Amino acid sequence: METTVILLKPDCLAAAKAGEVIGRFEAAGFVIRGCKMMQLTSDLLREHYSHLLQLPFYPEIEGFMMSRPVIAMAIAGDNVIERVRDLLGPTNSTKAPKGTIRGDLGKDVMHNVVHASDGLETAAAELKRFFADGELFDIPAG
Ligand code: TYD
Repeated sequence: METTVILLKPDCLAAAKAGEVIGRFEAAGFVIRGCKMMQLTSDLLREHYSHLLQLPFYPEIEGFMMSRPVIAMAIAGDNVIERVRDLLGPTNSTKAPKGTIRGDLGKDVMHNVVHASDGLETAAAELKRFFADGELFDIPAG
């Protein structure tokens, strides 16, 4: 059983779509192991998006991600990392098919509703980055 890290981004909360997005994860059978609202900081984002730091528009991404608090979640299930990425659709919302979260709710590349871990190693690193000991629970499915 894998666990992945989800961030409901500022555009998701601004559009009051948190419930819809969480509902899609629950409908897919995933189990919520952790959930909290947090104001992201520049330091944390520079670590989280270290692979994007060299992009000329990185400051724009950081500004967007700090524009209001986000909801961080840890959700678990069989093959959850890949399955959540499939539910999201591609990074660019304008290229995401209808029926995917980004295709239905996203606006463009940056305003794409949800972050999700993209592999086992990043999921492990992001669990440590966003959740302290005691904030993750072992909850049986069903
Ligand atoms: P990335 O890790 O490449 O994509 P994903 O979130 O799908 O794993 O990029 C992280 C975020 O940075 C992405 O969700 C939105 C933003 N971003 C842009 O705004 N423009 C870009 O060209 C890229 C590559 C990312």
